[in-house]
Amino acid sequence: MDKHIYLSSPHMGGEEMKYIQEAFDTNWVAPLGKNVEMFEKEMCSYIGRPYAVALSSGTAAIHLGLMCLGVKRDDIVFCSSFTFSGSCNPIAYIGAKPVFIDSDYKSFNMSPEALRKAYEKYPEPAAIVVVNLYGQPAEYDEIKAIAKEHNTPILEDSAESLGASYKGIQTGNFGDISIFSFNGNKIITTSGGGMLMCNDEATYKKIMFWATQAREPFPWYQHNEIGYNYRMSNICAGIGRGQLKVLSDRVAQKRKIHSIYLECFKDNPFIEIEREYEGAEPNFWLTFATLTKNCKATFMDIIQTLAAENVESRPAWKPMHLQPVFADCDFITQLDDKQKKETGYESVCEDIFSRGVCLPSDTKMTEEEVRAVAKIVNKAIYDKQSQR
Ligand SMILES: Cc1ncc(COP(=O)(O)O)c(C=O)c1O
Repeated sequence: MDKHIYLSSPHMGGEEMKYIQEAFDTNWVAPLGKNVEMFEKEMCSYIGRPYAVALSSGTAAIHLGLMCLGVKRDDIVFCSSFTFSGSCNPIAYIGAKPVFIDSDYKSFNMSPEALRKAYEKYPEPAAIVVVNLYGQPAEYDEIKAIAKEHNTPILEDSAESLGASYKGIQTGNFGDISIFSFNGNKIITTSGGGMLMCNDEATYKKIMFWATQAREPFPWYQHNEIGYNYRMSNICAGIGRGQLKVLSDRVAQKRKIHSIYLECFKDNPFIEIEREYEGAEPNFWLTFATLTKNCKATFMDIIQTLAAENVESRPAWKPMHLQPVFADCDFITQLDDKQKKETGYESVCEDIFSRGVCLPSDTKMTEEEVRAVAKIVNKAIYDKQSQR
């Protein structure tokens, strides 16, 4: 293709500079200021939760969120295995131990069945990190019921799912604490940043305190606890305010891209596009596809063919329990021995990883460009299929 096609790149709405200019005009370039305050308020009204804290990243939000849920050194924390490392690195920052949980084929997110199994082995985890991967909400009815039975708090990692909903409720409402990321490739960006959402003032105040170096209310600098420098800058928050104005357009564009892919691949029996399941309304941040088991093309064939045509795509997240850095962590698979034999895999997320590819889902793509990408993928698949 003449133009380079990105996987998912920043897409400004037009009003971002107005808020940045305002910060410059009032000299509130740093540290905090009106944009931060307003961005938090605007997120609260969009999500429908009373408290929000703007932070330097989604990872920072998970770190402070876990601390606030009471996670301590050597605690067990259940976490989706099929995710990006930002979901679980903060568990390690605290010195707690992740136990990774498999996905199911319905949502590709945490399997309620595997979660139940995990409780048989680890009856008292300190928290559960549940991820809404690629903008697909996890199965909260089941997951929340299981967590409630065992009195375990949930940290909802909505880094990728801003604008998605489950049973009519925005993601970001399902965790005792929920987080978002505004990293450069997300559905809206602040160039880098995150947001933590919660329901009670005590949590909000504690997060704010830790995020600003745990400074005690004394006239001089007094510290009784270790703190962090995790707040978002007023300039980044200005970008976020401008971006929030176009969030609903971006969700509509991502969903449109997904629907075009669905149409383009409907007659190709070797590739399946991830769909919404009943009750879920994903934002389809990335359109995720899996190649069927009888497809001769591998995900790397697709990625390399697209790259040769100037198009960026990406493998699925490699499950965390397969990462060398987490090699000593336990993992709970959803599959029994019979299912392992049938699928040829030890777990659902390994199976999905081995066949998955994230297709370019950049909201700046035209409809023709999405169709052109699909055509390259279809051709790559059929070319391989016709080889002996
Ligand atoms: C699922 C998931 N969790 C956590 C993060 C971490 O967010 P950040 O990059 O803002 O630290 C990301 C993305 O980057 C993510 O995709």
